[in-house]
Amino acid sequence: MNELISKINKLKKEKNAVVLAHCYQNAEIDEVADFVGDSLYLSQMAAKTNAEIILFAGVYFMAQTAKILCPEKKVLLPRLESGCKMADMITLADLREFKKKHPNIPTVCYINSTAEVKSECDICCTSSNALKIVASLNSDKVLFLPDTYLGKWVEAKLGNIEVITYPGFCPTHLQIKPEDIINAKEKYPDAPILTHPECHQSVTKLSDYVGSTTGIMKYAAESNKKRFIIATEKGVVDRLKRDYPEKEFIHIKNSIICQSMKWHKLIDIYNALEKEEHEINVDKDIASKAMNCINRMLEVSNGAKNG
Ligand code: 13P
Ligand code: SF4
Repeated sequence: MNELISKINKLKKEKNAVVLAHCYQNAEIDEVADFVGDSLYLSQMAAKTNAEIILFAGVYFMAQTAKILCPEKKVLLPRLESGCKMADMITLADLREFKKKHPNIPTVCYINSTAEVKSECDICCTSSNALKIVASLNSDKVLFLPDTYLGKWVEAKLGNIEVITYPGFCPTHLQIKPEDIINAKEKYPDAPILTHPECHQSVTKLSDYVGSTTGIMKYAAESNKKRFIIATEKGVVDRLKRDYPEKEFIHIKNSIICQSMKWHKLIDIYNALEKEEHEINVDKDIASKAMNCINRMLEVSNGAKNG
């Protein structure tokens, strides 16, 4: 493995490439990653980098977002099978139908969506800045897609905005049930429950903290508690265990794994850099409209997080 890591690092230098890795990736990917984090952080890093090649160890929409932000750079996704089931739940035709049903309302799309969908939305958000983005629109109603549960969590937290949601969801996070939280609380009463907002409201309501993947990791790092229940994908638990061996992290359920995030192995990173594949491209017109949607988010978000 060490030899492979050295070969990847050498290729990165030769080709002026940067590796961005989402924290649901297999933890071994961090050995060669320049930046590891949540969707917001990775899109901020993609927008800033001077590298000529961006290799995205994440899912398709993340690589597409990097390409939209950096049209002149080569963006690589090592394994093309890395899709997001939630992003695939809404097409451009579905979006148009949804907007027709609810006309003249600002439309917010979660970053977990295709470039085509982003190209016809007013602003984008991530789990980390969704509250701030929705509040920034100064509207008493917003359309939110594709994640109905993130949208409903935002509505409940803000209290004064009606969030009309599209019925999309994350099949991984929806496997977490309220009884899992109740059982964990009974078994480990001292441990706070840290949950991703893609979970059902019946789960987020019972949690002690709700936030993005990075938000959860930051909370656990800064808390003086010794034990935590983690209600999101396994990658977050693996990194927390590795980075804070003095604390105990209990995964809410072993089955909470996003298969699409797990395709990438170190050998795929090596092959992709070597052969410079698979290159992600976005139609120019779609990309320029989608870029406005993402840039509006980055401007509002301005580096500050709320999740
Ligand atoms: P983050 O924005 O927290 O990185 O989440 C992305 C995602 O796909 C969660 O399922
Ligand atoms: Fe998509 Fe869910 Fe996987 Fe996140 S965890 S990438 S929302 S399928």
